[in-house]
Amino acid sequence: MPLVTSTEMFKKAYKGGYAIGAFNVNNMETIQGIVEAGQECKSPLILQVSAGARKYANPVYLKHLIEAAVETTDIPIVMHLDHGADFEACKSAIDDGFTSVMIDASHHAFAENIEITKKVVAYAHDRGVVVEAELGQLAGIEDAVNVKAEDACFTHPDEVCEFTEKTGCDSLAIAIGTSHGAYKFKPGQKPQLRFDILEEVGKRLPEFPIVLHGASSVPQDKVAIINQFGGKMPDAIGIPEEMLRKAATMAVCKINIDSDLRVACTAAVRKHFAEHPDHFDPRQYLGDARAAVKELVKHKIVDVLGSDNKA
Ligand code: G3H
Ligand code: 13P
Ligand code: ZN
Repeated sequence: MPLVTSTEMFKKAYKGGYAIGAFNVNNMETIQGIVEAGQECKSPLILQVSAGARKYANPVYLKHLIEAAVETTDIPIVMHLDHGADFEACKSAIDDGFTSVMIDASHHAFAENIEITKKVVAYAHDRGVVVEAELGQLAGIEDAVNVKAEDACFTHPDEVCEFTEKTGCDSLAIAIGTSHGAYKFKPGQKPQLRFDILEEVGKRLPEFPIVLHGASSVPQDKVAIINQFGGKMPDAIGIPEEMLRKAATMAVCKINIDSDLRVACTAAVRKHFAEHPDHFDPRQYLGDARAAVKELVKHKIVDVLGSDNKA
């Protein structure tokens, strides 16, 4: 099956009360682990590529790795640009064959966010590509996304109708308390999401697909393995999975997961070296990382997203 857009996936997910997993990819083993999980669970998938991933792996390599994944499976797969910083970044991804792009102009003022998003939507739609936009700002630090906690702000439900009507975007990322990275809450802090905002947005935009960024759960068993085998990830805390499951039954159709893949890979590699200090063949430890990604993604598909048997 060739690459697809997320249009049909989101329609079915909205009606069915589940969400599609959008997994960040940077290398071959991660792509293979995710796609093997999707294939075995018969789940649609979104493989997303950040600016940092394109810089790390070379855009040509990533595109061809994703195309190889598509060639070796029969599940619907979207190739999505994560956090496109401006029109040029989105244009470049669209010209390269991405079927979906995110324009992240959420740090701009409302009117400017609309103008930038509108321009991307016009270019994308002319070429059959769909566009995710963002309103509100998540906290967190990644390679290309860096928002201090004090600059983060929840999405205002009052703005969503005007924004989606004026821009024509196909899905909308909102800020309800998730954040990027592995340190989402402080120890002792009760993890909370603003389900009231999600519900209100859902009422204002019936049947419109909502996206959650920063939705890793940071599995504590994996963090414990990392810390046991020489790592240092004190107080890494994510979003409880039952909250994500609840969001998936509401208007949320796309759930972004990157940090959990990183944690799973790192735990597997650290454990591998602790148990096999004599190993030096990358296939041995990267093979373990790939298996860990597959196991994690299967768990997400079945227990968190609910997207199994929906391909
Ligand atoms: O939201 C950002 C993603 O987790 C990508 O992270 O920019 O480090 O590749 P990255
Ligand atoms: P996490 O850091 O929670 O995995 O979020 C990833 C993300 O939102 C990618 O766009
Ligand atoms: Zn994100």
